Amino acid sequence: MSLETLSIICYVWLTIAIAVHITMFFITAPFGRHTSSKWGPMVNNKLGWFIMEMPSLLIMLYFLLFGTYSRSSFVWILFALWIFHYLNRTFIYPLRIKRTPKQMPLFIVINAIFFNLMNAGLNGYYLAELAPVTDYGNEWLTTPYFIVGAILFVVGMTINWQADTILINLRKPGETDYKIPKGFLFDYISSPNLFGEVVEWSGFALMAWNLPGLTFMVWTFANLVPRAKNHHDWYLGHFPDYPKDRKVIFPFLF
Ligand SMILES: NC(=O)c1ccc[n+]([C@@H]2O[C@H](COP(=O)([O-])OP(=O)(O)OC[C@H]3O[C@@H](n4cnc5c(N)ncnc54)[C@H](OP(=O)(O)O)[C@@H]3O)[C@@H](O)[C@H]2O)c1
Repeated sequence: MSLETLSIICYVWLTIAIAVHITMFFITAPFGRHTSSKWGPMVNNKLGWFIMEMPSLLIMLYFLLFGTYSRSSFVWILFALWIFHYLNRTFIYPLRIKRTPKQMPLFIVINAIFFNLMNAGLNGYYLAELAPVTDYGNEWLTTPYFIVGAILFVVGMTINWQADTILINLRKPGETDYKIPKGFLFDYISSPNLFGEVVEWSGFALMAWNLPGLTFMVWTFANLVPRAKNHHDWYLGHFPDYPKDRKVIFPFLF
């Protein structure tokens, strides 16, 4: 596939992201606290996370192992960061979340598989087949884009892990209800885990400085900002004492 063809696919995929972003403010994605059996057959929550995140990991591994060109350090690092993130999301995260009777619709799993096929496919193909011929040599590692992007990636990932850990630990073994999270960035926003994920993939897009990286950053924002708003409204609706000055996802802003 040429760079031109890949770019056209990215622009179409970006347009869909904007449409999904707007839609998600009106239709809540039915998983986690918002799960609903109205969306057809249901699957076990932990299994759902495992199945829907696995394609992203496998596709990146495929391009890493079977890409045509020899790799620069730049390409190795981006592959490694992506794979590291998805090792957590595919294996560790589903094992860490507390077991509850909650299930997720198969519809969500299928949608997420498609989302992951597209994003990992575009990024993996670019890194394996196009980056080696579009001037991303090792000197890119010392540019401000790469350095600032790497800092953002690490900070975002750390926030995401820490916030997920706090949320997971809110329940004692056997508990299935929800509590008001406190401390860390929870004093400022309702969803620091989603904020961390947005920061993390913004960092990746800066480091990569290519259209597929930007596309995934936009998709992450498009998905997670409305989800954070759904979470925030849910907290306000369920807890009369929920802090009213807490923002949705971006501290002091929204
Ligand atoms: N890149 C992307 O586009 C994308 C898309 C979606 C999610 N993600 C990532 O996937 C992870 C999960 O996302 P999510 O929206 O499902 O997160 P979430 O709703 O915040 O839930 C995270 C975990 O904590 C539990 N939990 C959350 N709030 C709680 C509370 N107040 N009291 C007790 N337990 C609570 C949840 O249990 P329940 O399941 O029982 O609610 C779940 O096990 C996040 O790290 C997110 O960044 C990424």
